Amino acid sequence: MVKKLATEDAILHAADILKKGGLVAFPTETVYGLGADAFNGTALANIFAAKHRPTFDPLIIHLNDPDSLDRVADRSNLNSTANLDTLSAALWPGPLTIILPKQRSVPDLATSGLPTVAVRIPDHPVALSLIRHSTGAIAAPSANRFGQLSPTTADHVEKSLGDAVDMILDGGPTGIGVESTILDLSADHPRILRPGGTTREQIESLIGPVELFSGFSTAPTAPGQLKSHYAPRTALECFEKVPALKDAAYLFFDGRSRDQWREQHTIPVDERRIRVLSEDGSLTEAAANLFALLHALDTSGADIIYVQRVPDQGLGTAINDRLSRASHHT
Ligand code: TXA
Ligand code: MG
Repeated sequence: MVKKLATEDAILHAADILKKGGLVAFPTETVYGLGADAFNGTALANIFAAKHRPTFDPLIIHLNDPDSLDRVADRSNLNSTANLDTLSAALWPGPLTIILPKQRSVPDLATSGLPTVAVRIPDHPVALSLIRHSTGAIAAPSANRFGQLSPTTADHVEKSLGDAVDMILDGGPTGIGVESTILDLSADHPRILRPGGTTREQIESLIGPVELFSGFSTAPTAPGQLKSHYAPRTALECFEKVPALKDAAYLFFDGRSRDQWREQHTIPVDERRIRVLSEDGSLTEAAANLFALLHALDTSGADIIYVQRVPDQGLGTAINDRLSRASHHT
């Protein structure tokens, strides 16, 4: 495995690796992805092997241009393309994945045999250039071992996947920090299957009310809903009020909550284990910091990580979703 700064030369080299069926980890605006040519079945199989991911969990196909949508999705099978047209014009490139009826030519491995396909156009210059210079359609899950914390830096990818990847393109920390929102447009009513970087409010302002799938499932048809996911190795619990425990780590939403907690507790906790998602209580900043702080606390030697839930609005819905799944150990 080679980690390289995402220069133009490195991107061209990485595109070549993809064309030859290899695996490349690359930055997007949400998290790092582990990419393979979406039409190469062997390369797709290697993604599942590298991640130790069950093949019932389908992949997102990344495009660089809405014009290539017809290569993977079959719009003629949609009752109406109005929502798709509105959302793709307004929110692509961006952290929105749309589920659509699939084209037959898309390998079953990419969609886990479902009649639908997940597609998005990422808003990141390195990702867009890599897609453009390779085969124009890259299947990419997040670049981490299945079920573990998502990677927001090239180092996270290296630690999680190591030699299983042919190249890691280092484009620095990702900007948004939580995965894309997954919106299903293949059924009669639009439905959010996974809250993420595009808020429900943004989507509803464009196409009206959408349902939020909030249940957990172990069923393969909605694998984004797996109950235990995005999990550190250390036990994690969401808290409202918790004691100060010497061997615990704490992740607060904002500085105010941390300060209040400090005033109420006298037992000394290692300062490095008391962290804040956003000093000023910005949900955008909290999302961007979420996985990096969980990675850091996971290796801090603490017995347990207590995490404070954040306000359940805007990006907060995606953050709380990840915290709930991270705290569920099966
Ligand atoms: O931000 C993101 O979406 C990142 C970056 C790399 O683009 N990717 C990502 O991929 O989070 P992944 O594989 O970790 O999560 C994709 C989720 C899966 O949990 C899968 O269940 C869901 O998308 N998915 C894919 N195809 C689907 C389909 N046809 N129907 C329902 N859910 C689908
Ligand atoms: Mg993932």
